[in-house]
Amino acid sequence: MITSKQHLLIRTLILLSLASLISVAKAADPAKGIVTFNNICAACHGAKGEGGIGLPLKNILSRFQHNEVIEKIKNPKPPMPALYPSFLNEEAVADVAAFIETL
Ligand code: HEC
Repeated sequence: MITSKQHLLIRTLILLSLASLISVAKAADPAKGIVTFNNICAACHGAKGEGGIGLPLKNILSRFQHNEVIEKIKNPKPPMPALYPSFLNEEAVADVAAFIETL
C-alpha cells in the first residue's frame, strides 16, 4: 500500500528527473557557432557566408528546415568534408547551425 507521503515522493522524483532532461537539451548558441564558422567554414563558404568553394549560406532557412541544415553539416555532400563527429560534436554542430541561420 502506497501512503500519500510516498506518493508525493514519487511524484517529486519524476518531476526532478524531467527537469534534468530539459536542462540537458540546452539551446544552441550562435555566439559559440561563430568561432567554429570563422575557424573552419569561412574558408570555403566566405567570411559572411557569401559562398566561394562552398555554396552561399545566406538565408539558408528560406531553402531548408533547421533539421535539414543540421543534416547537411553532419552528412555533407562531397567536396564538403565530413567534420562530424571527428572535429565537431553534436553541440558544436548545433551551435554553428544556429549561427549560419543568422546570415
Ligand atoms: C573544404 C570546403 C568546405 C568546408 C570547410 C565547409 N564546407 Fe560546407 N560545403 C562545401 C561545398 C563544396 C558544399 C556544396 C556541396 C554540394 O555540392 O551540395 C557545401 C555545402 C554546405 C551546406 C549545404 C548548402 C546547400 O545549399 O545545400 C551547408 C549547410 C554547409 N556546407 C555548411 C558548412 C558549415 C557549417 C561548415 C563548417 C562547420 C562547412 N560547411 C565547411 C564546402 C565546405
